[in-house]
Amino acid sequence: MTTPVAAATAQSTQQAAEIIRDGGLVAMPTETVYGLAADATNGKAVARIYEAKGRPSFNPLISHVTGADMAARLVEINTVAEDLISAFWPGPLTLVLPRLAACPVSQLATAGLDTIAIRAPDHPVARALIEAVDRPLAAPSANPSEQLSPTTAQHVQQGLGDRVDMILDGGPCRAGLESTVVSLAGEHPALLRPGALARDDIEAVVGPLVAPDTVIASPGMLKRHYAPKANLRLNAITPKAGEAFLAFGPNAGAATANLSESGDLVEAAANLFAMLRQLDENHDRIAVAPIPLNGLGEAINDRLSRAAQPKGA
Ligand code: TXA
Ligand code: MG
Repeated sequence: MTTPVAAATAQSTQQAAEIIRDGGLVAMPTETVYGLAADATNGKAVARIYEAKGRPSFNPLISHVTGADMAARLVEINTVAEDLISAFWPGPLTLVLPRLAACPVSQLATAGLDTIAIRAPDHPVARALIEAVDRPLAAPSANPSEQLSPTTAQHVQQGLGDRVDMILDGGPCRAGLESTVVSLAGEHPALLRPGALARDDIEAVVGPLVAPDTVIASPGMLKRHYAPKANLRLNAITPKAGEAFLAFGPNAGAATANLSESGDLVEAAANLFAMLRQLDENHDRIAVAPIPLNGLGEAINDRLSRAAQPKGA
């Protein structure tokens, strides 16, 4: 059974908001492409996004907000961000900014990074939905991994079938191209992804945008992936002396932390970055239990093997 398409009305939008508040997934129209939206503050709901898309890795997701006020509860807004927000929001411009210590967005939504990508979509249905949920919405494009981004509700239905709880139909997307992503977390504003807002328009406000490579070369900036400082040993059945043990499943023995005591991969994904960070604070060596490769296990294993790479590689 595929999920039926629901015309976006005040009533269906309210229903969609309740689904999201309960941890479900809703496909929502935006001015760029359709997004697969979940409560960004709910790790398990965010894990379901990756599951539904069949993504073999955890890319950080955009948190969608109503505007500057909601953004200010998540990230540090500097003066460059203020200028860009007043020029282009709501609209197809995503800004990557440092997350606040009190930011409620789940670590999984940002793939463990210290920064968050945020944008305020310029679409009445998306705006009404975010307002009704009253929380930031994590939303990648609503297509299976490796397929084209959907610009109609029917595309979403064809691609995701029954892997989404509700599809809100707001008609075809105006832009049909994803938002432009600009990072303001480094020394200079950097263009991370060209998109529906032209570079020239952005440069008219903030001056030249640098390429991401230039910025990544400078220390500590604009990391696309969170990397723990500790050494990781994967597929460990039991910890060795001096190792913290990140376990998975029941009967884990001497676990320092357990990704999911019941062996649930959605729960494990939701806990992955937060637990790695927590162990990394107090341990130099972390042993990680074997994680099955099915479902979200593929993305979890991908992330773990990157995190286990020798440092500086
Ligand atoms: O138009 C759009 O942006 C659509 C609609 C639904 O809003 N969304 C979208 O999301 O295209 P997605 O997940 O397909 O792309 C998000 C992009 C990726 O290139 C990701 O790497 C980047 O934003 N991104 C997200 N968080 C980031 C972060 N903290 N640092 C650097 N890049 C980030
Ligand atoms: Mg996409």
